[in-house]
Amino acid sequence: MTHVLSSLEEIRTNIRHTDRQLLQLVKERLAFAEEVATIKKSRGLPTINLDAEDATMTNLTNYATEMGVSPFFAKRLGELLIEETVRVEDASRPRQSKDQMLKEIFELTQKLTGKGVKVTRFEIGEPNFPAPPEAIKALSSTFRKKKIVGYGPAAGLPQLREALADELNRQHNAKIDPDQVLVTPGARFGIFGTITSFVSSLERVVIPQPAWPAYEECVSFINGRTVALNTQFENNWEIDIASLETELKKGVKVLVINSPSNPTGKVIPKKKFSEIVELAAKYNTMILSDEVYDRYVRVPAASILETGYDNFVYINSFSKQFSLTGWRIAYLVTSKQNALRIRRVIQTAMTCVPEFIQNAAIVAIEHARRVAQRNVNAILRKVDLTCRELEKIDVSFHKPEGAFYVFPKANKPKFDSVKFARQLLEEHHVSVSPGQSFGDYPTFFRLAVSLPESQIPSAIKGIGKAINEWQ
Ligand SMILES: Cc1ncc(COP(=O)(O)O)c(C=O)c1O
Repeated sequence: MTHVLSSLEEIRTNIRHTDRQLLQLVKERLAFAEEVATIKKSRGLPTINLDAEDATMTNLTNYATEMGVSPFFAKRLGELLIEETVRVEDASRPRQSKDQMLKEIFELTQKLTGKGVKVTRFEIGEPNFPAPPEAIKALSSTFRKKKIVGYGPAAGLPQLREALADELNRQHNAKIDPDQVLVTPGARFGIFGTITSFVSSLERVVIPQPAWPAYEECVSFINGRTVALNTQFENNWEIDIASLETELKKGVKVLVINSPSNPTGKVIPKKKFSEIVELAAKYNTMILSDEVYDRYVRVPAASILETGYDNFVYINSFSKQFSLTGWRIAYLVTSKQNALRIRRVIQTAMTCVPEFIQNAAIVAIEHARRVAQRNVNAILRKVDLTCRELEKIDVSFHKPEGAFYVFPKANKPKFDSVKFARQLLEEHHVSVSPGQSFGDYPTFFRLAVSLPESQIPSAIKGIGKAINEWQ
């Protein structure tokens, strides 16, 4: 018996010794990661390299099979090693989020205006027309009714979900059941809830670029992987179907589409939209279709709700339609099963969208559509004016087919729009968003046209002057 116990202790000592060796090897591996980080830094390469991650996972699985170790364990080990490698690389070279880049210009602008400087603001991505008076009246009247100040259902008020389903069914000739609709605190939260519900660590999300940076933020929040599918100005911002298929083939959890697009104003043509959906169906990829600018269109825009595809999440919001950005109310549509999963995120994180806001939203849908659309059309006319003025300066751009953004390219080689945006703000008091906030687009910048019409011509003249002075 003593003999058995002592040999058990001996084996345990050996195990502890092996653990120590394992850790020693991990330490050596991480020292390589630091070397890699230094090289990447000197060459301006991104921290995350999906091909290198793929190679690590494939190697580990092959070694595991060779050695008779569980491939499942090898996969988990690979994930841990990759996570730690990225953490070490990040520590030696912190990544700047694109969302933060956008906020930087916003904060700089606030600072200047705080000092009394008059800034022409082309950087604010929200409509500048007033919120519908009917909705505001409804909001204050619900305050007076004591019984609606408690917690509400996480999925949203049944009356609002019904009203939304009815409206969407009319708009898209669809058959959406109210149980498929969720009320979310902003489209941003709908996107967050979708990504956190369906994407796990290291899983891939394809985001055609240029794109609103919040998608990528959500993916990195859960340690997923963004696959940036670049579209080109020269190709009229069209998604290339062959490149998309190359990515989907590798195994992708979610494909994001945003039509009309922030920042290009591109509307995906109906035929292309169908091809994208067909491809997603072929690889069983979920489509997250962000349609928050669907009322800002000059050409017919396709909707995921009209395709019959069932692996989707449709995102929309009261923010841009009704100029209710600060109210934080939006909605999504998906299958009933998916809705239950996303509902859990809402319930866990914030119980529900405040009920008085939802009541006012019902009134907005029922009574304020016409007025809101008139305001939307006025913004589209301001986009026209902006385009006419842009034609007079040294930029190239496609006239947007939707949304209220223009994404011009400065006709200057080696243009750096982050630097340009700062200079323009400080020297000409005009704020724009740098192209790098939306992907690898340093020669582009975004104009959000939600400012008074009278300010547009002189501000664009200022932009033209700053581009001419650029060296
Ligand atoms: C494409 C896109 N989706 C969603 C949103 C955010 O909408 P919400 O205010 O409902 O969160 C924005 C805001 O700029 C956006 O550009």
